[in-house]
Amino acid sequence: MAFLGLALAVLLLSMASAAAPCAEKEKSSLLQFLADLSMDGGLAMSWRNGTVDCCSWEGITCNRHGAVTEVSLPQRGLKGHISSDLSGLTALQRLNLSHNLFSGGLPLKRLVSSTAMIVVDVSYNHLGGGLGELPSSDTIHGWPLQVLNISSNMFTGEFPSSSWKSMKNLVALNASNNSFSGQVPSSFCLGSPSIAVLDLQHNQFNGNIPSVLGNCSMLRVLMVGHNSLSGTIPDELFNATSLERLSFRGTGLQGTLDGAVGKLTDLVALDLGENNFTGKIPESIGQLKRLEELYLDYNMLSGELPSNLSNCTSLRNMNLMYNNFSGLLSKVNFATLQNLEILDIAINNLSGVIPETIYSCTNLIALRVAGNNFHGELSPRIVNLKSLTFLSIYGNSFTNITKAFQILKSSNTIRVLFMGKNFMCEAMPQDKTIDGFDNLQVLAIDQSSLTGKMPTWLSKLKNLEVLFLNDNRLKGQIPSWINLLSRLLYLDLSNNNLTGKIQTALLDMTMLKSINSAYPSYFVLPIFFVESHQYLQANAFPKVLDLSNNNFTGRIPQDIGQLALLNSLNLSFNRFYGQIPQALCNLTNLEVLDLSSNLLTGTIPTALNNLHFLSMFNISNNDLEGSVPTEGQLSTFPESSFDGNPKLCGSMLIHHCNAIEAPPNSNVMARDLSEKIIFSIAFAVSFVLGVLYDQLVLSTFHCCIHL
Ligand SMILES: *[C@@H]1O[C@H](CO)[C@@H](O)[C@H](O)[C@H]1NC(C)=O
Ligand SMILES: *[C@@H]1O[C@H](CO)[C@@H](O)[C@H](O)[C@H]1NC(C)=O
Ligand SMILES: *[C@@H]1O[C@H](CO)[C@@H](O)[C@H](O)[C@H]1NC(C)=O
Ligand SMILES: *[C@@H]1O[C@H](CO)[C@@H](O)[C@H](O)[C@H]1NC(C)=O
Ligand SMILES: *[C@@H]1O[C@H](CO)[C@@H](O)[C@H](O)[C@H]1NC(C)=O
Ligand SMILES: *[C@@H]1O[C@H](CO)[C@@H](O)[C@H](O)[C@H]1NC(C)=O
Ligand SMILES: *[C@@H]1O[C@H](CO)[C@@H](O)[C@H](O)[C@H]1NC(C)=O
Ligand SMILES: *[C@@H]1O[C@H](CO)[C@@H](O)[C@H](O)[C@H]1NC(C)=O
Ligand SMILES: *[C@@H]1O[C@H](CO)[C@@H](O)[C@H](O)[C@H]1NC(C)=O
Ligand SMILES: *[C@@H]1O[C@H](CO)[C@@H](O)[C@H](O)[C@H]1NC(C)=O
Ligand SMILES: *[C@@H]1O[C@H](CO)[C@@H](O)[C@H](O)[C@H]1NC(C)=O
Ligand SMILES: *[C@@H]1O[C@H](CO)[C@@H](O)[C@H](O)[C@H]1NC(C)=O
Repeated sequence: MAFLGLALAVLLLSMASAAAPCAEKEKSSLLQFLADLSMDGGLAMSWRNGTVDCCSWEGITCNRHGAVTEVSLPQRGLKGHISSDLSGLTALQRLNLSHNLFSGGLPLKRLVSSTAMIVVDVSYNHLGGGLGELPSSDTIHGWPLQVLNISSNMFTGEFPSSSWKSMKNLVALNASNNSFSGQVPSSFCLGSPSIAVLDLQHNQFNGNIPSVLGNCSMLRVLMVGHNSLSGTIPDELFNATSLERLSFRGTGLQGTLDGAVGKLTDLVALDLGENNFTGKIPESIGQLKRLEELYLDYNMLSGELPSNLSNCTSLRNMNLMYNNFSGLLSKVNFATLQNLEILDIAINNLSGVIPETIYSCTNLIALRVAGNNFHGELSPRIVNLKSLTFLSIYGNSFTNITKAFQILKSSNTIRVLFMGKNFMCEAMPQDKTIDGFDNLQVLAIDQSSLTGKMPTWLSKLKNLEVLFLNDNRLKGQIPSWINLLSRLLYLDLSNNNLTGKIQTALLDMTMLKSINSAYPSYFVLPIFFVESHQYLQANAFPKVLDLSNNNFTGRIPQDIGQLALLNSLNLSFNRFYGQIPQALCNLTNLEVLDLSSNLLTGTIPTALNNLHFLSMFNISNNDLEGSVPTEGQLSTFPESSFDGNPKLCGSMLIHHCNAIEAPPNSNVMARDLSEKIIFSIAFAVSFVLGVLYDQLVLSTFHCCIHL
């Protein structure tokens, strides 16, 4: 009983002391802070609503003496300057103003020297200017600041150096995603022996990596990626043996990877991608037992993969894409890498067969071996990979496509399957028992000179969104089941020997007709079309119908106007005849229209000028007549777009129109003025966009590699 009474007394006492109201000085500092805001997101209302005690204001925390210790106002839509009057809050320890719209400078100097500040988070604002030098502390303990997050702002200038020696307690500094320049700051490790997290990514730092960083004995996270550095990784850095995450991605570093990297035995993630590293992966890599992520993609590394990689038993994600590795992949015993989820070794010089040990990595989600010299048949053991969603063997020398599909057919997990540029001159598998593939979204069986017709089993792929069958020797007609692929939005049948007319089924492709609110689903790995272009979702692909270089015939049906969402239509190099259908002007999203090298006759429909986004247009080598439009979008295309139509005339063609041959569609003149104005604005905009995106569009739609 007595004990309970005592406890109650203590409780009451502490409640009484917690209720100490805020001091007048504190309140006026906060009100000054408020006064400096141009948008307060309702904060003034909330603070001035009856309560006089600022300690109970939203976002404010006080100690028991009524002094403000914390100001926490993230994501409040606050706009204006960060008032240096906050420095009047001498007991302030934590300031969180992240995810607001603050601009101007950060009064760091005053905040650090006049308050008890431990944590400052002003990330995700529009703060700018330099940080300035900090006053030196007169105590041997230095300033108490431990965490400084100024990331995702617009700070510029060099990072203060010598004055940071007073930051003896700094643990985490995140300055990423700003525009800092000059040398990579490094004095921390001398001044702040406790620094554990240093994120300097996405700035404009230059020069070498300072070797003094090796003195940071507590450093766990060092992220310096996406800066413009030079030189190589200094050996001294490998003395920072507490490092767990190290990134120099995209900094322009060169030289070889020193064997000393093996000293960093706590490393969990190593990202050296997008640099100019040469030489081999050092054998000491095997000492990194905790390594989960290894990214060495886009370098110039070479030699065999060291067998010691099998010692990195924690590996989950390994990306060695775009290097010059050679030799046998079987040097690595994958059986020990039971945690492996993503393996990307695309675009190297590896050869031999895919080692069977890979198929014991049952956690594999993505396997990309594209662009190497692998040969042999697909192993039946691949079905052990029960989580596999992404498989690309594109561009190797694999054989027996029938067997490959018989093995893969039962997979219900695969969403992306790139088989192209293998199986040269084999027959397209027609096996009616191929089913499964319930989740297949992207399928490429292209560039393999396969013979036969479009196989019926394709009609069962209800979730297929992207289909490449181009550059084969397929015969026959486009099958009437094509519209059963109700999610298809990209169909490339170019460079085959397909025949017949464009059937109604093809013009009934749901995804090309109307906007469909499908959930975007992301792939594990980005899909590359050309090096510069990558996609993480199928529905981010452009909407494409490519029937070029076949033996199609007949008229281009008016119903083609139904495919209103098409971005690219290529019917070139076929035997289409008749007029260019007026209905094409319904395809207002077209960026590429190629009808060249057919047998088309009649005049150019002036209404095609409505295709404001067109940046590639070609009707050359037909039998068209009349004049080339002298105004609008079509008049911006070069002579080569119209060449090879002897009866066509135009100011830029050899055959000039004489005065009597007035524009065939003179009713254009009757368009009312407002429409013309709207048109010319739209035209001006799309013309600029067209020029800018020309390169991009062309490279996207006329793709050559996809992995
Ligand atoms: C003001 O205070 C009253 C009562 O305390 C409360 O109901 C009301 O929501 C407050 N208004 C604002 C804008 O915070
Ligand atoms: C500041 O607030 C944001 C948003 O609530 C939060 O994510 C962040 O962790 C906070 N910063 C610190 C240092 O606690
Ligand atoms: C800013 O960085 C600190 C330290 O790393 C972290 O605790 C905080 O969550 C970060 N703020 C945001 C908004 O992410
Ligand atoms: C630093 O801040 C950025 C956001 O501005 C965040 O994405 C990043 O993860 C942070 N770095 C560390 C090491 O926490
Ligand atoms: C970089 O900062 C900008 C502006 O604050 C922000 O929109 C963007 O998301 C940030 N990027 C990263 C990677 O954090
Ligand atoms: C690394 O540290 C050791 C002792 O801790 C020292 O002998 C050596 O010189 C250092 N190496 C470098 C490259 O600084
Ligand atoms: C690699 O070096 C070459 C010249 O030696 C340079 O053109 C290229 O931009 C560098 N690549 C990277 C990723 O830094
Ligand atoms: C590392 O790998 C090699 C070759 O696979 C092996 O001989 C060695 O025993 C492994 N070392 C350790 C420490 O596991
Ligand atoms: C392909 O593999 C199958 C076994 O699935 C075999 O019967 C057939 O002979 C192989 N074809 C070739 C050309 O090797
Ligand atoms: C296309 O098929 C036709 C008729 O079947 C044949 O005459 C022609 O040689 C084939 N062309 C090619 C390039 O295979
Ligand atoms: C197109 O088909 C005709 C007959 O069907 C054939 O003579 C011709 O060679 C084919 N053209 C091509 C390019 O295959
Ligand atoms: C053109 O588009 C309209 C509206 O989207 C549609 O109703 C019409 O049928 C289309 N015309 C043709 C010829 O497809």
